Amino acid sequence: MKKFFIAPSILSANFAKLGEDIKSVLIAGGDLIHFDVMDNHYVPNLTLGPMVLKSLRDDNIIAPIDVHLMARPVDDLILKFAESGASFITFHPETSDHIDKTLNLIRKCGCKVGIGLNPSTPLNILDYIMDKLDLILLMGVNPGFSGQKFIPSMLNKLHHIREKIDSLFPNILLSVDGGVNGNNISDLVIAGVDIFVIGSFIFSSRNYLKVITNIRQNINKTYNNIINL
Ligand code: DX5
Ligand code: ZN
Repeated sequence: MKKFFIAPSILSANFAKLGEDIKSVLIAGGDLIHFDVMDNHYVPNLTLGPMVLKSLRDDNIIAPIDVHLMARPVDDLILKFAESGASFITFHPETSDHIDKTLNLIRKCGCKVGIGLNPSTPLNILDYIMDKLDLILLMGVNPGFSGQKFIPSMLNKLHHIREKIDSLFPNILLSVDGGVNGNNISDLVIAGVDIFVIGSFIFSSRNYLKVITNIRQNINKTYNNIINL
């Protein structure tokens, strides 16, 4: 059975009780925590810094954390988030002057390496960097806010990325972030997604266990249908 990962995006969590909320969502079945960093320049919102990540680690949160950097310049932040306990660090190519160098920096810091693609970022950006990646994250929305609607053409883009991954570097994980919910999860499984980043759809529910269990059942059902075709 293929492993799928549900990654609650804490942008939609209760910031007044962040540690508690993260622990609840992990107990309910979240596999990894998605930690959105926004700088109010690259994207029009301002969120969390490395000190918050460090506090969560000090509070015994040991689950893998994907730090999704939507900030520039990005290299100094990578050092700080790696020191603070990031497991994956994902950045957007537009935030780095020297993408190859930034990828090497993440690896050197001991973190898994992710690249984030906006809805309009051309896929040829991947051409000479795939050998350095552990993760490709495709935005289903323009980055900045949770609760936006999934852009339908991103489904096709996911299929294209999946083809590239399968033919060149099959170990790379494909992640989708933004607008993921119970209505589109099956299509996303069919498109070949491994990691489902989900913010508002999980955190707006009063019952994290129920919503995550439903999502996982949907994912597994769709996957079983595909392999039995
Ligand atoms: C958007 C962030 C996402 C966001 C997803 O820029 O990168 O991680 O929190 O939230 P939903 O699932 O509500 O679209
Ligand atoms: Zn994100």
